[in-house]
Amino acid sequence: MRKLLVATHNQGKILEYRSLLAGLPLEVTSLEAEGIALDVNETGVTFAENAVLKACTYARISGLWTWADDSGLEVDALDGAPGVYSARYAGPGASDRDRYLKLVDELQSMNTRDRAARFRCVVAICLPDGETITTDGHVEGEIVDEPRGSNGFGYDPVFYLSDHGATMAELSQETKNQISHRGHAARAAKLALAELIADRGAG
Ligand code: IMP
Repeated sequence: MRKLLVATHNQGKILEYRSLLAGLPLEVTSLEAEGIALDVNETGVTFAENAVLKACTYARISGLWTWADDSGLEVDALDGAPGVYSARYAGPGASDRDRYLKLVDELQSMNTRDRAARFRCVVAICLPDGETITTDGHVEGEIVDEPRGSNGFGYDPVFYLSDHGATMAELSQETKNQISHRGHAARAAKLALAELIADRGAG
């Protein structure tokens, strides 16, 4: 069976993607299992650039079909920041809590009523011959001053979804997967993979 390298150092994502991709005739493997220690510098200025950079670098190194993603939070009042810098927003060594508190502080100091925000995710699939596919997903919400909930990670406690009357951190993992930026991008990428397999064969 053909191998698919899920190129992330995040074990949680590997598990999530492995379960999403079950049913496709692919053996999901990881950087760790392939003995790849290289870290790709995320030098892109868009989610798509970073996802493609990661997927194609690891596809070249491994010779395998490779899946990578990039995601983050865009806040309208901050002209789309933190965007691709979401993980680095409060500097090195900062925690998730440091980052969302900094974000709330910044919005409070602007005294703005515009709290619109969205999570975005791009999944890139790159083949060793250079063929590349990207899919994206997003989910709209608003940034609230009071963090709520303890599920999820990152900015989830301050990302409020009016349809659910809850922050992302108050949703179950199952509900988050159904509505999230990553869920949407990943399901579209799974369909694209199924087409690639139909075109190129499973082995
Ligand atoms: P990455 O794509 O996993 O590198 O995520 C980049 C950063 O965006 C994370 O470190 C989080 O700060 C933020 N982020 C991405 N997806 C989510 C999410 O589902 N919830 C909360 N924060 C997220």
